[in-house]
Amino acid sequence: MNLAVLGSGGREHAICYKLKQSSKIKKLFCIPGNAGTQKIAKNIKADISNFDKLYQVIKKNKIELVIVGPEQPLVDGIVDYLNKKKVRVFGPDKYASQLEGSKAFMKNLCRKHNIPTANFGIFDNFDDASEFIKKNGAPIVVKADGLAAGKGVSICTSVEEALKNTKEILDGKFKSSKRVVLEEFIEGEEISYFAIVDKNSYHFFGSAQDHKRVGENDTGPNTGGMGAYSPSALLTKELENKIKQKIIQPTLKAMKDLGHPYRGFLYAGLMINKDEPYLIEYNIRMGDPECQVIMMRLKTDLLEIIDSIINNKLNNIKIKWSKKNSITIVLCAKGYPLNYLKNSEIKNLSKIKLDDSNQIFHAGTYSKNNKIYSNGGRVLNITSCSESLVKARNNSLSNINKINWKDGFFRKDIGWKAIKNS
Ligand code: AMP
Ligand code: GLY
Repeated sequence: MNLAVLGSGGREHAICYKLKQSSKIKKLFCIPGNAGTQKIAKNIKADISNFDKLYQVIKKNKIELVIVGPEQPLVDGIVDYLNKKKVRVFGPDKYASQLEGSKAFMKNLCRKHNIPTANFGIFDNFDDASEFIKKNGAPIVVKADGLAAGKGVSICTSVEEALKNTKEILDGKFKSSKRVVLEEFIEGEEISYFAIVDKNSYHFFGSAQDHKRVGENDTGPNTGGMGAYSPSALLTKELENKIKQKIIQPTLKAMKDLGHPYRGFLYAGLMINKDEPYLIEYNIRMGDPECQVIMMRLKTDLLEIIDSIINNKLNNIKIKWSKKNSITIVLCAKGYPLNYLKNSEIKNLSKIKLDDSNQIFHAGTYSKNNKIYSNGGRVLNITSCSESLVKARNNSLSNINKINWKDGFFRKDIGWKAIKNS
């Protein structure tokens, strides 16, 4: 089968890496891809937000199945578009993509179906929002309703800060929506919980813990994710049952009842408070960098899983996982998440021996004259798996030390909470 993965991050490289192991694959394309995907797939330079052009590329290259990596094309309706053109595509339709595309949609669905989540209010005028903020006080979480490239959430420790952030959103700081969602702050530890879903059933698709803050000991500004490990140390069987029964199953049933059965990867961002899960957010895709650590542990043929979903036969498949722990440490360009340097050469990558337990997934990289350069904030994902998380982390750290890149930095403490408690 000829396949295309859409996107250019570490997540897409990890998906390509796994797909490439499938015996069913004929040609693998990554659109637009990066310097890492280029080694295992054919990169095609195309703008994935231009659906008409993308369709031309799909036809020209006889691509039979499209796997969508990032959220924006899903929220913009790529699945509906390609389905109309009779192209097989893996991901939720535009309506179901509101689970990530509109926080108001997600919160209202939770309220209607008693799915545990933070108490909230949704506002499109400042007077009502400000009354809610003053009544509830700080800390309070202020969220832009629509997609905001990871920048739409602020945890406000004072009423003044909450009012300021609310006003900015209502004034149109984010193009996607002028609505604001105000939420109670829930204490606890976070888990990224994944499911893979077709019309009739779903399977657990791995757990992980991300590290969003830029600095060690979880300090400094939020980022897209500085590293992750899998499985999450918090996920017991009992907790997993609660997550399935209280959160995943009612959501999938609600989407079906709305006439838009969910299909694709479903990523629940959860806060665990006193052994109870609360839904913080839904994402309609794999996480990045969570995907990198999950793909390292997946034993079943990914293409077989996705193919069975397209045919709504997921319940015929058993998904197998390695019992090992995996970790990824994100090597970033200095300055990230603020302004950072681009076009800086990264040397010595070939000194790292790649195998089933050690991989480098590229994100913001490109290659020119056989040299690798950076062109993003998050640049490389140094990924390892081993019998213990400490061993996996040591392997990743020793691989990073082989790389010669003067303009990069990373967190040495990924997995610190789990390692401290082990
Ligand atoms: P989101 O984009 O919704 O995932 O929010 C980004 C981050 O903000 C989450 O990963 C949490 O760490 C934090 N966060 C969001 N909502 C809440 C909440 N209601 N209570 C506590 N932390 C939150
Ligand atoms: N790792 C967080 C995300 O993918 O949204």
